[in-house]
Amino acid sequence: MSLMHDVLVIGAGLSGLRAAIELVDACDVAVITKVHPLRSHSVAAQGGINAALGETDSWQAHAFDTVKGSDYLADQDVVELLAREAPRAVIENERWGTAFSRTEDGRIAQRPFGGAGYPRTCYAADRTGHNLLHTTYEQATRMGVKFYDEWFALSLVKSESRVCGLTALEISSGEVYGISTKAVVIATGGFGRIYRRSTNALVNTGDGCALALNAGLPLKDMEFVQFHPTTLYGSNILITEGARGEGGYLLNASGERFMKKYAPTSVELAPRDVVARAIQTEINEGRGFENAYVHLDIRHLGKDRIEERLPGIREICIYFAGIDPVDSPIPVQPGQHYSMGGVDCDKSGKTSLNGLYSLGEAACMSVHGANRLGGNSLLETLVFGRIVGMAIKDFLKVAGPADRRAVDDETLNSAARVRALLSKRRGQSQSLIRQEMCRVMDEGVGVFRNAEGLKAALKSIESLSERNKKTSVGHTDTRFNLALIRALELANMLQLAEVTAVSALAREESRGAHWRTDFPKRNDQRFLKHTVVTRTKGRLVVGYKDVNMGMFEVKEREY
Ligand code: FUM
Repeated sequence: MSLMHDVLVIGAGLSGLRAAIELVDACDVAVITKVHPLRSHSVAAQGGINAALGETDSWQAHAFDTVKGSDYLADQDVVELLAREAPRAVIENERWGTAFSRTEDGRIAQRPFGGAGYPRTCYAADRTGHNLLHTTYEQATRMGVKFYDEWFALSLVKSESRVCGLTALEISSGEVYGISTKAVVIATGGFGRIYRRSTNALVNTGDGCALALNAGLPLKDMEFVQFHPTTLYGSNILITEGARGEGGYLLNASGERFMKKYAPTSVELAPRDVVARAIQTEINEGRGFENAYVHLDIRHLGKDRIEERLPGIREICIYFAGIDPVDSPIPVQPGQHYSMGGVDCDKSGKTSLNGLYSLGEAACMSVHGANRLGGNSLLETLVFGRIVGMAIKDFLKVAGPADRRAVDDETLNSAARVRALLSKRRGQSQSLIRQEMCRVMDEGVGVFRNAEGLKAALKSIESLSERNKKTSVGHTDTRFNLALIRALELANMLQLAEVTAVSALAREESRGAHWRTDFPKRNDQRFLKHTVVTRTKGRLVVGYKDVNMGMFEVKEREY
């Protein structure tokens, strides 16, 4: 069956919604999403969104902090755009209705965040993503954006070196559709669920990155996986950096405020890569609790402040750890949080395939380099959602009609793939393969890496990918077959796990979130470059690309 739109946005998180809003008056734009838009992972963002709103702050200071935080791997022209556009993006969303927390004199309140030289993070208590997503979705529906809720993207369709459509499964019916379109935006979020210890929603399986890889496009900087320093021990739910921004501190099992050793000036508000490594070192060297976690103490903030600024964190601790942070420290450990890598694209989201764009966590515009600063992720969605939308409006002026025949042909292929998956009656359990992949990634491609561990991880992933060919979905029904969706996601995740491990093995240096114990120094001569990985004739090929330098000179990072 076939459908048609001028532009198709895959993913209904903040990135996809903001891009669709930009396009809705100019063309026929539709958003396709595997979950209801309000269940997109943007809803889980807690601590805030950065913008230089303060009288003594500046976009240049924001840009500097971002470039330094990135360990100089960010493209500086992209960072400049992010920092310059930040105030506009925040004010726009505030005018649309986001209920930001306020100062006494009624301004948008801002809190300190890691790696920032200024309290620059605007927040709505500790539910900033929730507020922004609901507001932006309200605007998108008010403006008439068309949504395909609970559809799963299966493949991109190309013809004559341009994208001309997508094939997708309507989850409720099990029907496979072809959708012809002049432009596609991949805004599907990250792929954190390749790890077990992750703050990510279960939906974060990197489907958009896998679509791009399978269409022959490069994925960039995939080795740079952000581990958030403070995830709740046991469930790995995010405990916002805002808790430290409000004055919380980290203690080891001897009651020592250990961050003073690792970041004497910034202490708990060093960037995430530094704090995550410090916590993991304390645990690895036997100074943690139960060899697994340290304490985040916010008791001194008092009940009123916790209730006002961190109500969600208090609830999470009560419901998921059985402790009240008003009177007990919070057990925390590092966990996967964000993917700096993604679909290789430029600052207007343009990829190397004509008509294909990407943005948000699915993309690698190189705005975060080797380590993202907290508060810059919500920001990138709104800033670049608008910019990508504007770039597509220009593209549509010259884009010819989509090749519908190519879409019809690929729809038949996708339908055959789905039928083949459903028709297999016997086979291994996919959930075991998924669990094993997550364990392998936690162990071999975690906060600290080395060649031996990475090679072992790669070998295991290759063998799991082979085993995955012999699995069966287990349920043959076509309607709402979530086992089928899990199978499609797993195939995507295994590919991304492999690209992550391959990229990490090739980068023989330590930079930002990528720390090699066998190469503990940054090596600018060899590796002040972006990694790009493509799949060519079934094999992954690693290459490199220059970093766009700018006004900030490369230096050692000190915090
Ligand atoms: O800690 C946090 O609230 C996370 C923020 C972010 O990832 O930007």
